Amino acid sequence: MKIAVLPGDGIGPEIVVEAVKVLHALDLSFELETAPVGGAAYAALGHPLPASTLKLAKDADAILFGAVGDWKYDNLERHLRPEQAILGLRKNLGLFANFRPAICYPELVGASSLKPELVAGLDILIIRELTGDIYFGQPRGRRIATDGNFPEAEEAFDTMRYSRPEIERIAHVAFQAARKRSKRVTSIDKANVLETFQFWKEVVTEVGQQYPDVALDHMYVDNAAMQLVKAPKKFDVIVTGNMFGDILSDEASMLTGSIGMLPSASLNASNQGLYEPSHGSAPDIAGQGIANPLATILSAAMMLRFSLNQEEAALRIENAVKSVLAQGLRTPDIYSEGTTRVSTIEMGNAVVKAL
Ligand code: NAD
Ligand code: IPM
Ligand code: MN
Repeated sequence: MKIAVLPGDGIGPEIVVEAVKVLHALDLSFELETAPVGGAAYAALGHPLPASTLKLAKDADAILFGAVGDWKYDNLERHLRPEQAILGLRKNLGLFANFRPAICYPELVGASSLKPELVAGLDILIIRELTGDIYFGQPRGRRIATDGNFPEAEEAFDTMRYSRPEIERIAHVAFQAARKRSKRVTSIDKANVLETFQFWKEVVTEVGQQYPDVALDHMYVDNAAMQLVKAPKKFDVIVTGNMFGDILSDEASMLTGSIGMLPSASLNASNQGLYEPSHGSAPDIAGQGIANPLATILSAAMMLRFSLNQEEAALRIENAVKSVLAQGLRTPDIYSEGTTRVSTIEMGNAVVKAL
């Protein structure tokens, strides 16, 4: 089992080292190889996704990724920005299916900013399409306008687009995932305004006809953003496009107590996967030893399950996480009165001990 380890920037290295510690504690034999990515790779090798890092990722059975991005690179040309590394990995490896499970563990009910009764028992699965939409659509750029509200003004533009096969394959992923859960899919769109999402809705509906055992409903994204904080437990599997999925999954993370709890898996057609927390490099807390490593540790569990065929080891990690939460150990982002505040390293050590 060959794992490419890409720590990245900000809190990336701090949280990835804890997940690696947990993997080593499993007594499985892994071959781990680390490479720079993001701002760290730009600083070392002049490019956020060096050819050597991309090759390592392509050749691996799975990729464990931290996070990329740093304020100090915000003014670089777009193709050199750290974020291009994660976008490039997703695109180059065809990682179109992004799973972001939002589970509220009983011990963290009080850590959510929502009332406990709204989040107790929450278990929703956001499936975000990850290689299309306005993120990758061409053309994009800057120009002088020739029409619009201010013709002749300087303007910027991006292109939102989805093809039928792109929508079909992510819809199949969602319906198949729903079959293993409570057999309900909510497709989130903006069909009332956007042609791209009218088409999305039509294609998801067509694919849904092949899954008569799964109930499908549709919701506009603005309403979905509201319903997620009004009655989040009404959702089971959510399927949506790249940009709406990005935004709604950060929103959903607070239902679990903290964005530091939300893992993710990004899979391609051959189940090769990249595993990363849903959050970013958190430059505001980097280097302080207070980042929550659990989203990354839970991403490593998803890696064992989805790409490495080690369901038992995945469950062991998930149970160890539950156990440290039951012991009352909390990084600051999930701290509440009566619990014990711990550092990133102490949290990682506690998970290892619980294993
Ligand atoms: P962010 O997710 O990095 O941070 C948002 C807030 O959540 C911050 O207050 C941060 O301290 C907190 N937070 C995030 N992870 C945490 C953790 N594990 N434990 C405790 N607190 C945590 O989002 P941002 O501040 O908007 O972006 C920072 C940088 O990260 C940007 O450069 C952005 O582009 C990048 N980013 C990268 C990824 C990725 O690598 N996949 C994802 C999102 C953002
Ligand atoms: C995420 C991040 C990325 C995204 C950025 C860093 C490119 O926000 O993984 O959610 O928008 O997909
Ligand atoms: Mn995001």
